[in-house]
Amino acid sequence: LANSVSIPGKLAPMATTAILTAAGSGTRLGAKLPKALVLINGVPIVRVAAENLFASGVVDDVIVTVPPGFMDQFTAALDGIEQPLTFIEGGERRQDSIANALRLLLPQCNKVLVHDAARPFAPPELIAAVANAVTAQVKAVIPGLPVVDTIVQTTSEPAPPDRAVAWLGELPAGTSPAGTVPKTDIAVLARTLDRAALRAVQTPQGFDRETLVSAYQNAMETGLTATDDAGLVAALGVPVTIIPGSPVALKITTPTDLAVARLER
Ligand code: CTP
Ligand code: MG
Repeated sequence: LANSVSIPGKLAPMATTAILTAAGSGTRLGAKLPKALVLINGVPIVRVAAENLFASGVVDDVIVTVPPGFMDQFTAALDGIEQPLTFIEGGERRQDSIANALRLLLPQCNKVLVHDAARPFAPPELIAAVANAVTAQVKAVIPGLPVVDTIVQTTSEPAPPDRAVAWLGELPAGTSPAGTVPKTDIAVLARTLDRAALRAVQTPQGFDRETLVSAYQNAMETGLTATDDAGLVAALGVPVTIIPGSPVALKITTPTDLAVARLER
């Protein structure tokens, strides 16, 4: 493939490949550089993530998705890492970046982890637990944490006047609910979700290679978009197993997240 740079290395038969997604721009973080190049205690985010993947002992090679135009900066950021690394230009959406990376899987790869560089501190133990939970029977594994906040389902539909007391939020006296709420999300109290049944999903997510490749083929053919890879696999009707996630594997999205990440290092 054009725009890919390979650092050769030996792969065992039945290898596990990690796709490290780092091709985003980091719009919500608002740094001058792509998010994965931002430093935490002097180390680029993408390097912290790659080092943790290899430290897990279960990852044989890593394919990094790179923002178009930043190949040199990314190879420099991962310079000196001895294990096999491949760099590929990402696409418009995360899903497109991963589709590009999937075309580079080596024949001997039978398990794939997909991991966001935006979660650089996902600990090696979590990475190993996800990979080891993928077996001949269990084809998709994701880490999930119990949810601490109450989560409500919102709707943008106008409130029916007779249900006005059921809407969350302040309604100015004498105004009609339908006319006063549309600027903010509204929710029906009855739609509060059962928190015990909810999980906040993290990466890495682990898959049987064929299952993940089929899920992406299906997504491309049907125009399906999902916010994570397990969503695409679930669309095939394949069960997804959730294992305990890690509070350390926080996602860096906003400047506040970055400040917290810098404090914790
Ligand atoms: N990603 C990618 N290719 C894209 C978009 C995102 O590889 N076209 C990666 C990001 O680099 C990140 C992960 O997917 O590691 C999760 O995405 P997110 O946290 O949304 O990062 P960004 O898209 O960079 O941030 P933002 O949405 O704020 O622009
Ligand atoms: Mg994004």
